[in-house]
Amino acid sequence: MEFQKRTITCGELRPKDAGRTVILNGWVNARRDYGGVIFIDLRDRNGVTQCVVDSSATPLLAPSIKDVRNEWVVWVKGLVRMRENPNPNIPTGLIEIIAEDIGIINSADVTPFEIVDDLGTNEELRLEYRYLDLRRRVLQKNFEVRNTLYQITHQFFAEEGFTEVETPVLTKSTPEGARDYLVPSRVNKGRFYALPQSPQLFKQLLMVSGFDKYMQIVKCFRDEDLRADRQPEFTQIDVEMSFVDQEDIIALTERFIARVWHEVLDVKLTMPLRRISYEDAMNLYGSDKPDLRLSGEIVDVTASSATSGFSVFTNAVESGGVVKAFVASGSASFSRKQIDELTEHARTYGAKGMPWLKYSNGEITGSFAKAIDQSELQAIIKNVGAADGDLIVFAAGEWERSCIVLGALRQKIAIQNGEFERVADSYALCWVTEFPLLEYSDEEKRWVARHHPFTSPMSADVALLTTDPSRARAMAYDLVINGYEAAGGSIRIHKNEVQNEIFSLLGMSNDEAQTKFGFLLKALRYGAPPHGGIAFGFDRLVMVLVGTDNIRDVVAFPKTTSGLSLMDGCPTPVAQSQLDQLGIQVKASS
Ligand code: AMO
Repeated sequence: MEFQKRTITCGELRPKDAGRTVILNGWVNARRDYGGVIFIDLRDRNGVTQCVVDSSATPLLAPSIKDVRNEWVVWVKGLVRMRENPNPNIPTGLIEIIAEDIGIINSADVTPFEIVDDLGTNEELRLEYRYLDLRRRVLQKNFEVRNTLYQITHQFFAEEGFTEVETPVLTKSTPEGARDYLVPSRVNKGRFYALPQSPQLFKQLLMVSGFDKYMQIVKCFRDEDLRADRQPEFTQIDVEMSFVDQEDIIALTERFIARVWHEVLDVKLTMPLRRISYEDAMNLYGSDKPDLRLSGEIVDVTASSATSGFSVFTNAVESGGVVKAFVASGSASFSRKQIDELTEHARTYGAKGMPWLKYSNGEITGSFAKAIDQSELQAIIKNVGAADGDLIVFAAGEWERSCIVLGALRQKIAIQNGEFERVADSYALCWVTEFPLLEYSDEEKRWVARHHPFTSPMSADVALLTTDPSRARAMAYDLVINGYEAAGGSIRIHKNEVQNEIFSLLGMSNDEAQTKFGFLLKALRYGAPPHGGIAFGFDRLVMVLVGTDNIRDVVAFPKTTSGLSLMDGCPTPVAQSQLDQLGIQVKASS
């Protein structure tokens, strides 16, 4: 039977509509049967409207809907009237529809979980039935924000004179950083395309072409270990500009972010944003993406620890390392169990243990309190700036590791103290700048680019490339929001010779550089302008805007942390005939 098409949605009717006859289409959100009167709450993405079937007025209607249950799809025709018992919690709560006619459009099996906002069901079941999960208003709201962000992005960059250009999805495999997803070629057997980890090289080539200002909302693919803020396929707002320096990219980004926060959240951010060098971020917060909403900074006590009687500290200093501390204000009341949890946490970040002290009621206790004199303990408490009632945790050893351990503890202590709930509605944004250009990979026994190999060194540090590469800083910058790396970019190398020099520093022979990046090197010989850019993690921006720490809440059909789509079961084996066409033989898995 034909359904009667809606004349209005389920979220729009108000008291001014009383007396109108309307038709609604939607899903049964709830059904309450009081014998003579049946209430049906009808839902679509715009809202819920209460419909009333009164068997004294329409005796034939009630039997015709006796089987209707939650999530059935129906149309209801009826008169809008004021409700006797208004529901102040929903926008349509002052009115209801008194049904004159109802038709069943489609029935529904009993759903594996209720379609309600506050759902205890485990995420795996929700992901298996993602299309039902997405019926929930809480998730739908996230996609409305996501949609608003698409609109603002296109509008902003168009107004700023950018051209959106689509770059290829089937590209050359040049793994640097994450692993590539490969796509076999049927026509050229034994050859593979790679899905782009980002359009980095294409956007640089577009600058060589003279596009000047490029942007694209683009899918990127990385075969890397997944976490709560990572998906194997994710979306970037990719941006590149010619004849610019770092200040231009930062200023553009700040204009964009200010507009997004204003239009989506009605929040006025104070610009310019704070800038922190990588070194300071590590020293103060133990992270290159510090969450500035959280309290407390790390303190360095290397100098005063050199002469302490505690061998863990003195050994660290003697071997050229550091001693650092984090004072957890008011946390002297932490239980033994909480401290054990912190110690375990420190271990997972590579610490051998976690020295700690408590300063409570004038008394100093802790893991090494008995190992050294009271006077020395007093001196440590003074040096770290602790007050009565504080817990102090320490890390000793190599600089970067010690910073990371205390950064992780700062975060964990904030969780234990419920600090994240307190800061949930606030935003702390900053730039992290002056990243090291290179880092040494113990695994590969060579220098690798920290951002990517096309990033320009800071002009002041070019000489270090030959003398002490580890100290050379990059013209790279990350935008950090509430502890998330929300965007990252750099000024690029635009001279062929410099790019060649960097490839060789990264341990690439001339031949290898030609094989992998010959097309870029060639392009850089044809008048490449100075250029630079940035890429925003689109999904991460939405996460921060809607206030979730799970990226799957803002991606319509996400993968699990093991890269599976629980709804359709991919990745799946394929037919032998498909493999044969591609000339591929699959090794038996070990
Ligand atoms: P980068 O690798 O820093 O830079 O990526 C830019 C931003 O993309 C987001 N992001 C991710 N989001 C979700 N899941 C992932 N697996 C994931 N990986 C990265 C982050 C990150 O800040 N081509 C350069 C940009 C440039 O130099 O212009 C690039 O891709 O928010």
